[in-house]
Amino acid sequence: EADKKVAELLSKMSVEEKIGQMTQITVTSFEAKGKPGEFDMAKLNEAIQKYHIGSILNVPNPGAPTIKRWNEVIKTISDEANKSRLKIPILYGIDAIHGSSYTAGATLFPQQIGMAATFNTDIVKKGAEISAYETRASSIPWVFSPDLDLPRNPAWSRMWESFGEDAYLSTQMGAAMVNGFEGNDVGSKYNVASCMKHYIGYGSTTTGKDRTPSIIPERVLRQFDLTIYQAAIKAGAKSVMISSGEINGTPVHASKYLITDVLKKELGFQGVVVTDWKDIIYLYTRHKVAENNRDAVKLSVMAGIDMSMVPEDYTFYVDLLDLVNKGEVPMSRIDDAVSRILKMKFELNLFQTTIANLKDYPKFGSQEFIDVAYNAAAESITLLKNNNATLPLDKNEKVLLTGPTANSMKYLNGGWSYNWQGDNSDTYAADKMTILEALQNKIGKQNVLYTPGADLENFDDAEVAKTVEMAKGVSRIILCLGEKNYTETPGDISNLYITASQSKLALALSKLNIPIVLILNEGRPRLISDFEENMSAVVQCYLPGNEGARALADILYGDVNPSGRLPYNYPRYPNSLEKYNRKYTESLGDDEQNNDAKYEKSYSPQFEFGTGLSYTSFTYSNLKTDKTEINNSDDLKVTVDVKNTGKVSGKVSILLYLSDKVASITPEVKALKRFEKISLAPNESKTVSFILNQKDLQFINNDLKWIAEKGTFKIQIDELSQDFMLK
Ligand code: IFM
Repeated sequence: EADKKVAELLSKMSVEEKIGQMTQITVTSFEAKGKPGEFDMAKLNEAIQKYHIGSILNVPNPGAPTIKRWNEVIKTISDEANKSRLKIPILYGIDAIHGSSYTAGATLFPQQIGMAATFNTDIVKKGAEISAYETRASSIPWVFSPDLDLPRNPAWSRMWESFGEDAYLSTQMGAAMVNGFEGNDVGSKYNVASCMKHYIGYGSTTTGKDRTPSIIPERVLRQFDLTIYQAAIKAGAKSVMISSGEINGTPVHASKYLITDVLKKELGFQGVVVTDWKDIIYLYTRHKVAENNRDAVKLSVMAGIDMSMVPEDYTFYVDLLDLVNKGEVPMSRIDDAVSRILKMKFELNLFQTTIANLKDYPKFGSQEFIDVAYNAAAESITLLKNNNATLPLDKNEKVLLTGPTANSMKYLNGGWSYNWQGDNSDTYAADKMTILEALQNKIGKQNVLYTPGADLENFDDAEVAKTVEMAKGVSRIILCLGEKNYTETPGDISNLYITASQSKLALALSKLNIPIVLILNEGRPRLISDFEENMSAVVQCYLPGNEGARALADILYGDVNPSGRLPYNYPRYPNSLEKYNRKYTESLGDDEQNNDAKYEKSYSPQFEFGTGLSYTSFTYSNLKTDKTEINNSDDLKVTVDVKNTGKVSGKVSILLYLSDKVASITPEVKALKRFEKISLAPNESKTVSFILNQKDLQFINNDLKWIAEKGTFKIQIDELSQDFMLK
């Protein structure tokens, strides 16, 4: 049906109208600076009637608009679009990253890295449903989410936007998020089109700095990164944003192989391929693979780009029109791109509805939605260490709360919150609780002594002396350390250690012999090995969003039992950045021959992927497979009994790892293949079962083929393991 309508409309369009559809500019291109919604009408008219733009990137200007304001903005633009010859609706897109995070009053969830730590796909899906609802309430039908990047260097400044280091976890979470956004009918008033990003290999920068080059063997790219996109495409993802990086010397925006041959042809992706910010321009100004803008436009459009996030001028339109008129870009390529864009507009029902009726969105920012964000935060927060049962704390005991992240919303939310770098959270989330407020609320103001201790960058001896003095009057210290809010290149760092001002504060407090509970509030694992051994308990909050501090306080005082698990290896040293699914030879220092106390163990992350303690204990038993030998076509059923052997109820994610004992491509020590989160009351036990299939046993060989090789495989769940044979 949509295809028929697309063909009909396409047949009526001029070349100028087609190329306009492929152009996306920002709303601020014709909005008065600092005055959202105040338009330069001449510029708006020019954008639509002269350049026929197809899409608008909705960026806040500079504060986060309410839904009412977004609707006014969109109505003004849509009224102008309705005056155009073919009245083709504009496709509005927005960075709704952890909820509708550019909109005042919207429900903000933990950032993706925290959502991954829940190991709960239902929560991830529910979060995306709410985000879709609240974004559509602003008449915006397209979100630039989910992030499907696989960060290979934990220093990467967008690590927190991903689902962590494991490809399988990312496939499950990514697909759940796409399902949540798009629902069964992407055109309904409560759903939005998702945008998988950033295809592909964006998270693999060698330096860890954003948009710097990656070297990724194709075998590896296919075995890991590509599978995440495959799963999201299968879930129905309507669009994809291309990586701003370069792989093996080719910018992805210039790669016909990756965009057309692999994504569109091999994976059969039928949706819209949009560039990232200015990335066609950067092909000549940064990557130097084109002499000028015209060559860059040709290169990327012929590579398979359908829409250019230009985003502030019409250089793309002007050069592409010239290229088409001179026959250097064939009309078939333009028709392919425009058909994809129009199809998405039809599927989103944009030809019927443009402006949302606010009465249809009574749940916007509602308690019901906030509760989901709270639950997500509560299931994400990860207890990494709890010596001598330091946690939960006693509500009657006085504590010292200190550290630079203890009293600010912007550190809880991180980037893409109310504005690009997330600086506006303290204004727009002023009614939400910081960690200080949540603790005061929980145990009473009189029981919480507070002083910042240090700031993120600066250390003041007098402030530290004061903090140490204050600590002498309490029996527990809660120390909140972490990172400023950031994303993209402003978040680049050269030193993965936590900032010196913070480690000095931690070391000064360590001398007191008072148990310290370290709360980490960070987007990536900043190294803490200088002082971690002096911490009695360590709690990773990630960037837990607007409800994060409440959830944290409930966990610290035992009203909620923690159940998050770390979705990456937390390194101990900056030159020891192994993944949990490393190869055997990555830890030669651990061989018997080298096992001399004077050598540091070469594989000894501070905390391993999957770490996540609880206030209760879970006992695993009876790990079984239904067969001891299988053929290629057989499924294998794996069962394990899990019992809550402690005193309180708890949730636990059961993680199933697989190892191929011997393989022609060196096998991984272990790889996550399945997970499931369950709840258990004290003494309750459940049998959890998983079905593995042939695909789970496969890897990609040097001929770029998926193969499974006969031999012994090992299944591991918790401390148990069980072998089986592939015949
Ligand atoms: O969606 C983002 C992308 O992740 C980074 N560059 C800008 C885009 C639009 O704001």
